[in-house]
Amino acid sequence: MTDTKRWNIQNDETYNNQAIYEAAQLIKRGETVAFPTETVYGLGADATDGAAVAKIFQAKGRPQDNPLIAHVATIDQLRRLVDNLPAYAEKLLQAFSPGPLTLVLPSNGTCSANVTAGLSSIGVRIPDHPVAQALLKAADVPVAAPSANLSGKPSPTAADHVWEDLQGKIAGLLDGGATGVGLESTVIDCTQEIPIILRPGGITKEQLEEVVGTVMLDPGLANKKEKPKSPGMKYRHYSPEVPLWLVAGRAENIQAIIDREKTNGNRIGVLASNTTAGKIQADEIIALGENIGEIATHLYDGLRKFKQGDVDLIICESFSEEGIGQAVMNRLKKAAEYIV
Ligand code: TXA
Ligand code: MG
Repeated sequence: MTDTKRWNIQNDETYNNQAIYEAAQLIKRGETVAFPTETVYGLGADATDGAAVAKIFQAKGRPQDNPLIAHVATIDQLRRLVDNLPAYAEKLLQAFSPGPLTLVLPSNGTCSANVTAGLSSIGVRIPDHPVAQALLKAADVPVAAPSANLSGKPSPTAADHVWEDLQGKIAGLLDGGATGVGLESTVIDCTQEIPIILRPGGITKEQLEEVVGTVMLDPGLANKKEKPKSPGMKYRHYSPEVPLWLVAGRAENIQAIIDREKTNGNRIGVLASNTTAGKIQADEIIALGENIGEIATHLYDGLRKFKQGDVDLIICESFSEEGIGQAVMNRLKKAAEYIV
């Protein structure tokens, strides 16, 4: 057990801030610090220090073969970590950085082999959050950071989620309030002729295609028989404490399944859009938002709110896969035990 230091920091207080300074010192000393980004909270360590990076895997219980993303503050710092930046990757950076985008590029070996899990490529990202930016500038090293949850659990979108999972296992936590996007960055393989989405996320396929034309989707994402190219996509993920069923169709269809399961003696929790939630009756209902953007923002918090003992089964509405709906549905399909 470690004593985890927790600092409160407002987004407009980052300049010359004592908490940022202390957190950066811990990173430089080879310790782990969780911090907010615009997507989810990350658990950071000096990416050039193999022993520091090993502490991330240890704290999360993360499989060793799942590589981490290196975070930097600027495009110039990103260039120093990679061998080659194809023209389309340059365009994507200009259009979407800082922002919820991770580029997989050939590594030049600056970051530890523990970050890349031995792969020749490295995922790099420039987060768009004042606390993350301030921490990266103060630490002045690339910071390896996966989502700051226990492996397998939903990613943290609030400091309390991080605290619940990792208190006593990490050196520090910068509490900068709730994150915005609510789902992780879009991971794009930039080692091929055409960019390939390895993980749908905060930047949508439609947005990417406006900048670079055709973008492919890793066949492993759609087809269970193909092995996903992003090692992290093969694990069970984002799992709530109780089983989740993903149910397509209108409110009446969803209600019919709820009623059937209730007669089996189950207590039912529901996750749905505000509109659908208003038409449904169940033991506990969490309305995630008016539109798919709000649903993305509140999804992980919703998944975490249903605890064992409160409900026996979560029924979650299926959403359209357009725009950020693609990322929402990607996470829900992984979280689901059963898809109706
Ligand atoms: O929004 C995010 O990306 C958050 C915040 C903290 O930045 N981070 C995050 O990290 O989601 P993590 O470790 O939970 O997910 C990283 C994903 C995994 O699916 C991993 O397999 C993939 O990126 N990845 C990392 N490096 C890769 C590489 N070299 N090749 C293929 N996939 C890679
Ligand atoms: Mg993760």
